[in-house]
Amino acid sequence: MAQDYIVIQAEEDGVHVIGLTRGTDTKFHHSEKLDAGEVMIAQFTEHTSAMKIRGKAQIHTAHGVINSEAKK
Ligand code: TRP
Repeated sequence: MAQDYIVIQAEEDGVHVIGLTRGTDTKFHHSEKLDAGEVMIAQFTEHTSAMKIRGKAQIHTAHGVINSEAKK
């Protein structure tokens, strides 16, 4: 089944998009660094069950738009 795309737009430098593995172990397998204005378009896959966004970004999903915030 084709997965929806998630669009992440960084609103500050050094935003990290971290992919976590699918299966018994939930581990980081990829970390992508985005600078302000940069966009990453990603899907959940056979290998990726979750994503963690660290830093201030706008995240567009099928469930709506979510704003993550900068570390306080
Ligand atoms: N090789 C990874 C995969 O196929 C690439 C990837 C897909 C990814 N979606 C991601 C990496 C989200 C980080 C975040 O699952």
